[in-house]
Amino acid sequence: MIIANWKCNGSKKMIHHWLNQYKNSIIPSDKYVGVAPPYLYTENFLNSSIEHNLGFKLGVQDINSSSGAITGAISLDMVKDMNCQFIILGHSERRIFFKESNLKIEKKLDIIDNNIDTILCVGESADENKNGETQTILREQLSVIDGKDIASSLTIAYEPVWAIGTGNTPTSQEINDIHIFIKDVVQSITNNNIVPKVIYGGSVTESNSEVFFNEEFIDGALIGGASLDGEGFANIVNNFNGYEK
Ligand code: PGA
Repeated sequence: MIIANWKCNGSKKMIHHWLNQYKNSIIPSDKYVGVAPPYLYTENFLNSSIEHNLGFKLGVQDINSSSGAITGAISLDMVKDMNCQFIILGHSERRIFFKESNLKIEKKLDIIDNNIDTILCVGESADENKNGETQTILREQLSVIDGKDIASSLTIAYEPVWAIGTGNTPTSQEINDIHIFIKDVVQSITNNNIVPKVIYGGSVTESNSEVFFNEEFIDGALIGGASLDGEGFANIVNNFNGYEK
């Protein structure tokens, strides 16, 4: 699974250019490839992707847990109405800039059914990492699925906050070990003992992606900055094509 998270970037002109670059570089495959542009552009993106037969899925970067008088929010029904196929939840930028607590993220998670894929982001800050608290923080963040029946539509994204947009990453071996930890925790705390897919996010680029994909328990990537370039993103997907994941 390879997901592009555009965050608050893009314009109609950029999408047009991006799609042309992507189309010219992508090698068709049956891998799960998704793009989460800003909400306003999902329809524009969706239409172009169908028109050019690009086969990637469209998603959103967050949802609200209810509809109604909540200025600025979007609901699950709207996301489905727009034919989006996945939702990113609990991204560290939502946790930091929008003060999203684990409780709030849990409420969102609870309303999402299995017809739409969820990518739940977890990850420690630089200080937490320095203080050796990574596993404690991940356990806390994963507690939102404690005691629940989890479907295969749920994927966990391990995104250490200190690696996002910084050019710094853990080593691929360190990420692999954390992914094993995350899979173990999810298996032990969920009611149906599911072992989820775990993808990595944080400064993944065309040039370092294969080092990560080579690791057994890294099931894909969530890509921010490097996904804004259509050719670069297509090449990351092409790199992933060679792996049985
Ligand atoms: P980055 O962002 O690839 O720019 O580090 C990743 C993310 O925030 O999902």
